[in-house]
Amino acid sequence: MTTAFPIDGIVIDRSIASNLHRQIYSQLRGLIERRVLPSGTALPSTRLLTKDLGVGRNTVIAAYEQLALEGYLLMRRGSPPLVMDLPSTVTATKEPHTEIGSTLSARGKIMLAQPHHHGSPGLLAFHPGLPDSDNFPFTTWSKLLGKRAKLARHDLFGTYHIGGYPPLCEAIARYLTASRGMTCTPEQIVITNGAQSAFDLLARILIDPGDTVWLEEPGYYGAGSAFLSAGANLAPLHVSDHGWDLVPPPVPPRLIFVTPSCHQPLGVTMPMEQRLNLIHMAERWNSWIIEDDYDSEYRFQGQPIPALHGISASNRVVYVGTFAKILFPAMRLGFLVVPEAFREGLISALSVTGQFPPLLTQAALADFINEGHFARHLRRMRRLYAIRRQYFMETCEEYLSPWLRLRRTESGIQLVGLFHENHDDKAVAAAARDYGVNVSPLSIQYRHGEVQRGLLMGFAAADEKTTKKAMGKLRDVLQATMG
Ligand SMILES: Cc1ncc(COP(=O)(O)O)c(C=O)c1O
Repeated sequence: MTTAFPIDGIVIDRSIASNLHRQIYSQLRGLIERRVLPSGTALPSTRLLTKDLGVGRNTVIAAYEQLALEGYLLMRRGSPPLVMDLPSTVTATKEPHTEIGSTLSARGKIMLAQPHHHGSPGLLAFHPGLPDSDNFPFTTWSKLLGKRAKLARHDLFGTYHIGGYPPLCEAIARYLTASRGMTCTPEQIVITNGAQSAFDLLARILIDPGDTVWLEEPGYYGAGSAFLSAGANLAPLHVSDHGWDLVPPPVPPRLIFVTPSCHQPLGVTMPMEQRLNLIHMAERWNSWIIEDDYDSEYRFQGQPIPALHGISASNRVVYVGTFAKILFPAMRLGFLVVPEAFREGLISALSVTGQFPPLLTQAALADFINEGHFARHLRRMRRLYAIRRQYFMETCEEYLSPWLRLRRTESGIQLVGLFHENHDDKAVAAAARDYGVNVSPLSIQYRHGEVQRGLLMGFAAADEKTTKKAMGKLRDVLQATMG
């Protein structure tokens, strides 16, 4: 192992020129003790380090020789010095201990306490909301990325197009108009690092500490965390089989967060009457509505439901979309649809956060959509997921019905299994994960009072063989934990 990089961690204080070699020696010693330079690393030759640090060669030689004398380095004739194995008793001089919590801002304290559940690579069954990776057209995707990288030159080189790469904004506007019943222009689209970054941005610019946010209960914890971090008070907007219980909260909300096409996590769809009511309420209160349309593309029964955005004439609905479910989550591309007059300001806000996504990926995605790969992939995945959903439901019924009842909803790529009895779903999910089955406890989606217990399970990522095997393991876990 060679340090190909300049050792920029060494800072020379030239005002005390007399002990330059001592400064180099002690900083290198610190780097070796902290294993920043692990054993076996070849350090730069004396000639190279002399150049990098702008000191005399004898200074570097003196520092290296002292380190060699103390057993930190092995000097070799004609080769750069090598970092030696240190006895385990040699440990870095620790930085003075600081109690991090006491140094955090109020916002920081909230952010650092939020839950996060991101799964682990390869744990496909039954990762909630994870699409299938085996059928993703990686060859096409890598060709498009490669082509754009080669041609990047000026267009994709600087931090241009903060609000989004124009051809991608155009492609998204065309898609939403054709598929989601929305009338929107490219000038209304802002590209973000996935939906979560859109929630965070909106929380920062729309919420003051103490404002009320009306959030679905149960509801998506990722969005809730963004609003809480901005200092919001969350008021529950209860959702059940009957839909959204639109009893106004005690304080009119500044912002309302909903997933009307496919409620997260219950999977119900908001009926038209409730949609109209909600828009009416938001207009009366002058509140914003965030419509999170995260997986509306997968609807397995009934007619597609147009977006809330499309039926609101008042410009109070901000639409959030993501490519996490149709393509893949790690692509980290999502978007906002906002009133045109709002976009310029959002671009300034985005440049403050630095949270604008790489142009190279945006350009490749624009090509992916414009060349027809996106539509083709979506059609294929709809067919595949319909089959996997059916198989998942049948297997779940066969294996897990003594412990849970599967909610049979029409859309989305995950399903909720409700426990017959009030067992601790967090403990069950943790036990399942130990067995290599990734399920999420339903109770973590509740923030107020009474919770329903059960498991949130995705069916899209695993093929039938994997599903069957994992279902058997889950049955054993339920048997062991719930009896
Ligand atoms: C309700 C909801 N919205 C949005 C997202 C997607 O977020 P992102 O685009 O940040 O990956 C998810 C992901 O699981 C989700 O469950």
